[in-house]
Amino acid sequence: SACGGGDDDAEGGADGSLVIGFAQVGAESAWRTANSASVQAAAEAAGHELKFVDAQQDQEKQISAVRDFINQQVDVIVLAPVVETGWTEVLQEAEDAGIPVVLADRGVEAADEDLYVTRLGSDFAEEGRKAGTWAAETFADDADGTRILELQGTTGSAPANDRKAGFFEVLDAEGLDYEIVDSQSGNFTAEEGKAVMETFITTHGLDGIDLLYAHNDEMGLGAIQAIEESGKVPGTDIQIIIVDGSKAGFQAGVDGKLNYIVECNPVFGDQLMDVVEQVANGDSLEKFTAVEESAFDASQFEAELPNRQF
Ligand code: AHR
Repeated sequence: SACGGGDDDAEGGADGSLVIGFAQVGAESAWRTANSASVQAAAEAAGHELKFVDAQQDQEKQISAVRDFINQQVDVIVLAPVVETGWTEVLQEAEDAGIPVVLADRGVEAADEDLYVTRLGSDFAEEGRKAGTWAAETFADDADGTRILELQGTTGSAPANDRKAGFFEVLDAEGLDYEIVDSQSGNFTAEEGKAVMETFITTHGLDGIDLLYAHNDEMGLGAIQAIEESGKVPGTDIQIIIVDGSKAGFQAGVDGKLNYIVECNPVFGDQLMDVVEQVANGDSLEKFTAVEESAFDASQFEAELPNRQF
């Protein structure tokens, strides 16, 4: 705004332009980079000022960012919470300051539901159920039981919790005879996914392992490297499910190195700006809006690859 205040005074303009503080998770994946780019481009196109903080997957940095946004009196705070718990205090501070909070992508624990206005992002449990449905069908006739390795996302994050829960919910409901041979976090990165897969291979070997369920592309792609380096053939000796659907993920699918891709869609910047504008307007909104997502098997990889946006 033209008049009043020092550098810290952030107010939207009379033309309806807003000052938005966005505390992003980090830059851990192609998905995340595409999400940041989508939000930044959409804010610019809508004529809003976006204060962007990359919290490097560190909750303390995100909490500091939210506090800075409160001090700067931004119009709306957008938070993509790295983990689900530990937000009550800072969300209460935002509420006390009269600044509405919109959750983008990830969610927080149900106890904090009154401390944010709405969440726009993926239905992570549904993503897990899609993975589980494919696994239950694929291994339905596996007479000696399906032996599964799981690479979980960041411990305590909504996508790790919900992708796990949705997946095993379906396997149990379908009555699949399975065993979780091992399940560890690879923190949604390729490096950690590879390192954890190397440990899995050292500890259990790969003979008799049927399926790897990786909670995102990066960890799946890192694991594929580890499997190849161990002399096995990913996608054949061990079947692999990934979640996200980046270009690199689909390319690995086209190359026959993995078997099922559950889409997680990061390109919701325009939709997020609509939500932020409605919130700034005081409109009433649903507590959760899911972005549209699909899932793809090997017969669809090649045709879908050119459509991927990240
Ligand atoms: O919260 C969405 C998840 O976060 C994506 O699946 C993953 O790639 C990212 O790190």
